[in-house]
Amino acid sequence: MDDRNMLAVAEQAAAVAYAPYSGAKVGATLLAADGRFFTGCNVENASFGLTICAERSAVFKAVSDGARRFRRMAVYVYAERLFPPCGACRQVLHEFAPDLSLIASCAGGETREWKLADLLPHAFSGAGLDSLRRK
Ligand code: THU
Repeated sequence: MDDRNMLAVAEQAAAVAYAPYSGAKVGATLLAADGRFFTGCNVENASFGLTICAERSAVFKAVSDGARRFRRMAVYVYAERLFPPCGACRQVLHEFAPDLSLIASCAGGETREWKLADLLPHAFSGAGLDSLRRK
């Protein structure tokens, strides 16, 4: 699946986003190492903090279906400007795909690409937990 297709699929996912509070409809496509792809969209809640972003929604769908290794993520937002994934999504993506690359695009036409490692330097990982355990 190439970037154009990934972004087109992310745009379709954004179309079904539930974002009545922010108005920002976001969609994501996550390409697994085995060739499968998973989509996600943001799902907001009247209790705002319960909102889930498109990126985490895609990761949780993928892991729920048995995929844990990922190649690339595409994110599309129905807005004039795009934005990089939020901190919570960076951390969740790092759990499974620290070497992930991401592309993003938006209705305004801008496209950007990032490496997760650049977005989340000095990431916290499971290895860090060992040092926290009481001996
Ligand atoms: N949002 C995402 O889906 N992904 C991000 O990386 C940042 C923000 C959503 C959450 C919320 O529904 C809306 O965008 C505004 O924050």
